[in-house]
Amino acid sequence: MNIIIAKNDQEASEKAFELVKTGLQNGKIKTLGLATGSTPLKLYAQMREANLDVADVTTVNLDEYIGLEADNPQSYNYYMEQELFKSMNFKASYLPNGVAEDLEAECERYESILADHPVDLQILGLGTNGHIGFNEPGTPFAAKTHVVELTQSTIEANKRFFEREEDVPTLAVSMGIASIMAAKEIVLLAFGEAKADAVQQMVEGPVTEDCPASVLQNHPNVTIVLDEAAASKLK
Ligand code: F6R
Repeated sequence: MNIIIAKNDQEASEKAFELVKTGLQNGKIKTLGLATGSTPLKLYAQMREANLDVADVTTVNLDEYIGLEADNPQSYNYYMEQELFKSMNFKASYLPNGVAEDLEAECERYESILADHPVDLQILGLGTNGHIGFNEPGTPFAAKTHVVELTQSTIEANKRFFEREEDVPTLAVSMGIASIMAAKEIVLLAFGEAKADAVQQMVEGPVTEDCPASVLQNHPNVTIVLDEAAASKLK
């Protein structure tokens, strides 16, 4: 694991942006894997402003809540539209359909999209419980795209985006850990003290399904970009 520790989330996002920009400009990134949540917002702001030519680039996202239409402001489809897609001319962009009637078929459809568009660089955030995508602790490392029941800690962490806790969806469709590990390169960002324990477990703990992100120790090309607070528990 290549670990970069920046002073704050702005500087860390600039470092991640350099990695993304270089890959886009030299043509190495044909498929870019994207995450949602608060962590990549400053990275996406730089991408929007950089005037990058991404007409040959396809994007695939990690996950979507079940039960939210793409035009629901809390959906990840909507988030991506606002943060990137309406400002950048990607060739095509894919997210899971959280209102698919047949969710099993939707998971299979998404895996076939991933098979057609192998991810060159995947952006990841990190849950306070060590999740990546919405792969909660205990998810088998072999999992492909699947329906996930969110843990109480994830619902708690995400309720800040909703008016009421009972509005937070409890289910999601998420790329599995095996789907994520298939990316050629992974850049994980984590900011703030609340992520420090998960970062420590991910980097220095055993590789175990109890901390899904620890699987990244087995990936040949991972860069972890942290601010000082998120790195504060590393030995
Ligand atoms: C989002 C995702 C999640 C988040 C994680 C951190 O697409 O897959 O794994 O990256 O929950 O969320 P934030 O960035 O809001 O702290």
